[in-house]
Amino acid sequence: ELAPIEQAKKRAAFACGEKYVQSGCRLGVGSGSTVKYLVEYLKQGYQNGQLKDIICVPTSFLTKQWLIESGLPVSDLDAHPELDVCIDGADEVDGQFTCIKGGGGCLAQEKIVQTAAKHFYVIADYLKDSKHLGDRYPAVPIEVLPPASQPLLRSIPRAEGGSCQLRQATKKCGPVVTDNGNFIIDWQFEKNVSGRDWLAIQQRLANTPGIVETGLFIGCVDAVFFAYSDGSVKEIV
Ligand code: A5P
Repeated sequence: ELAPIEQAKKRAAFACGEKYVQSGCRLGVGSGSTVKYLVEYLKQGYQNGQLKDIICVPTSFLTKQWLIESGLPVSDLDAHPELDVCIDGADEVDGQFTCIKGGGGCLAQEKIVQTAAKHFYVIADYLKDSKHLGDRYPAVPIEVLPPASQPLLRSIPRAEGGSCQLRQATKKCGPVVTDNGNFIIDWQFEKNVSGRDWLAIQQRLANTPGIVETGLFIGCVDAVFFAYSDGSVKEIV
């Protein structure tokens, strides 16, 4: 028996899969614990013959392993540079569909694959649903080139406020290393700043040397599947 939060993740993933994954679909597959249920959905459909000829492009090492273990057809953007759909989880989604992603350390590949897809859908449990960014998840993960990490730990708070931490590994002495060999800076932004322009912040950060990508996903979400604690799932468009 799954815990309520796991049930919600599963319901969101299955509802989105049922609506937006069809046979022949070239699909970007996100990362994280909610996406694990999407992989389960794809596996079922593929094995029982309801989903035929799909192509799955993973956004992380771990998702690739899950797809391989599930016997699903795995490809990449070299072979399939244009995708029909991308489905991913998020750490937080606000009322404008601005998302924070990267809590699990994957964000650059997620954004690359999302950008290659015509449509992007987010699957999330009720803990990710927020009015104002920061209500649910306190930081924006930022993937950085290792030689830039120390200067960026100082310059990001100087330019944008808040504070920054280099994300540390738990079972290794030293920083988390991403699938791309980079580090992650968690930028804890100041809360209760009204009218914050996340797009301008994203643009400034993306223009800073050494920053590979941020976990801010802005203006790219077609719909969010939120699963609530009462068992319902709502597609919000
Ligand atoms: C991976 O780094 C993230 O971008 C995930 O999409 C996000 O953290 C959501 O993960 P969960 O589904 O595990 O909450």
